[in-house]
Amino acid sequence: MRPTNPATSPAQYDAVGERYLQFKRSHNPLPEQHTVRRLLGNVSGADVLDLACGYGHYTRLVKQLGAKTAVGVDISAEMVALARRIEQDEPTGAAYHVHDVASMPVLGTFQAATAVWLFNYADSPDQLASMFTALHANLLPGGRLVAITIGPDYDPSGPSWEPYGLRVVDAAPGFRHTELAMDILSTPPTRLRYRRWDRDVYEEAATSAGLAAPVWHPAEIPADAIARKGEAYWQPYRANPFLAAFDTYRPRT
Ligand SMILES: C[S@@+](CC[C@H](N)C(=O)[O-])C[C@H]1O[C@@H](n2cnc3c(N)ncnc32)[C@H](O)[C@@H]1O
Repeated sequence: MRPTNPATSPAQYDAVGERYLQFKRSHNPLPEQHTVRRLLGNVSGADVLDLACGYGHYTRLVKQLGAKTAVGVDISAEMVALARRIEQDEPTGAAYHVHDVASMPVLGTFQAATAVWLFNYADSPDQLASMFTALHANLLPGGRLVAITIGPDYDPSGPSWEPYGLRVVDAAPGFRHTELAMDILSTPPTRLRYRRWDRDVYEEAATSAGLAAPVWHPAEIPADAIARKGEAYWQPYRANPFLAAFDTYRPRT
């Protein structure tokens, strides 16, 4: 079994499922969701895999957008239990499994996958590569991944993300990454630990697994979010991108 690094352990979510849900519902997730939807495009009739599905936000969303099947995978039994409870209350047809993405089995042949805040929990470049390898085995040739992760250009001492519900508690530079302790500003605040991996670590890990080199995209802030909060509110969001997106795909040959 893969040793777990307490610094980034996904078990941290077993304790915080409900608080994470509260945070996500109370702090504006609009640019994140808008960016995922824009990059994902039309999923109507597609089989979609949602990696690190948490309580199923994106699993349910892709099903509601017309996916034929939507399968969520998360390492946290607590998060998956919460996702299943939400599905039971308001059924969409989404299905959930508890697995570490780095060692998940083949769950189907998917045309598309999402991974929103997964790769920042990898505790080594090898684990990142294992996640991409397991994804490759689940994607059809030509199948795409859309991911949200901590932007490689994010500077923990740069403009603050507190207006968006995140406070830096500690930042320690490491080899090809920065280790971050951050509070998500739920009530009470919830301490989480992440890794901000350098861009070339993602590229090496994806290509070593047989995927195309990731293409990076800044978050897109939708017009209604700008209208509601004003341009100045979003300035730090753009200037110091904690959130960045990339996409990649499984080549056809
Ligand atoms: C910040 S939450 C995001 C959940 C969901 N994608 C969303 O945006 O609402 C991160 C999730 O990643 C999961 N996670 C972390 N490491 C994982 C791994 N190796 N395999 C599967 N899930 C993992 C955690 O359990 C947690 O539910």
